[in-house]
Amino acid sequence: MHPVLRALLAILLLALALSLNSPSTQRMATKLIKRSLPPSIARFLPKQPFQAPFLAHKPSLSPQPIYTRTFNTSYPTMASPTSAATLFEAVKYRHSVYTLTDETPIPNERIEEIVQDTLLNVPSAFNSQTTRLVLVLAEEHKKLWELVREVYRQQLPAEKFEQANKRFGGFQGAYGTVLFYEDTSVVREFQEKFKTYQDRFPGWSEQTNGMHQYVIWTAFELEGLGANLQHYNPLIDTRLATEFGVPETWDLKAQLVFGKPTGEHPEAKPKNEISKTLKVFGK
Ligand SMILES: Cc1cc2nc3c(=O)[nH]c(=O)nc-3n(C[C@H](O)[C@H](O)[C@H](O)COP(=O)(O)O)c2cc1C
Repeated sequence: MHPVLRALLAILLLALALSLNSPSTQRMATKLIKRSLPPSIARFLPKQPFQAPFLAHKPSLSPQPIYTRTFNTSYPTMASPTSAATLFEAVKYRHSVYTLTDETPIPNERIEEIVQDTLLNVPSAFNSQTTRLVLVLAEEHKKLWELVREVYRQQLPAEKFEQANKRFGGFQGAYGTVLFYEDTSVVREFQEKFKTYQDRFPGWSEQTNGMHQYVIWTAFELEGLGANLQHYNPLIDTRLATEFGVPETWDLKAQLVFGKPTGEHPEAKPKNEISKTLKVFGK
């Protein structure tokens, strides 16, 4: 094939590979580009297949996070890839958001990626990994909150149900819910394995579950979703378990409702004086 044609084909392939982020097409295009160039030039090209710099890291389907403001700090981080300042920007941004629509500003794949990355990175006691998550989206989310409504209709007196029902309408009008569970069989397994800490594992299990809740909540809000945390367990446990095929050993802890926020992002609520909540020694 004529070298110019070969180069054109290679560029086309590379554009396709980068748009699909396909490693095999990237390899093929890289080979073709190198072959179509004189060897004296080709030898200066990198050995690895060409990649778009923004894809060279982990592929992410999300748009740019909405919250990218940088934070001034006089303590630059040396060892870690990010700074506590960035972390605290995120921490300060997360709030309970209740006015949600049934849309999402990010694709389902990105939502799932956040949930997966949380499971893969949040710590647990003795690395017991007791947390289990169920991600419920779109129509399934609406069905979930219909089930909650039905359970409460059967359990509450009429006037109390009416109040609760308004709240259920709000949750049902959102886009999705993450159900947070703890696998009690794993908790028991670790209680058996580490008898000295037998009494501690149930508490540690709650703690790791809370950490998962917090990371997903914060990550969702950084990517433009609003979210709020609910606790309709244990009343709804059996009904949800039947509907979503949840194993018997999974114990429901919380429900994180999320969707596209409509109003202004909420302000921070008043907090206690630090002097009441912190003691420092040895300063
Ligand atoms: C452990 C825990 C349980 C919570 N339970 C609920 C709940 O059942 N319903 C609810 O609407 N908010 C719940 N929240 C949200 C808190 O009310 C809220 O985080 C707090 O008032 C601070 O407001 P912010 O989230 O906007 O910062 C809970 C939060 C935590 C950490």
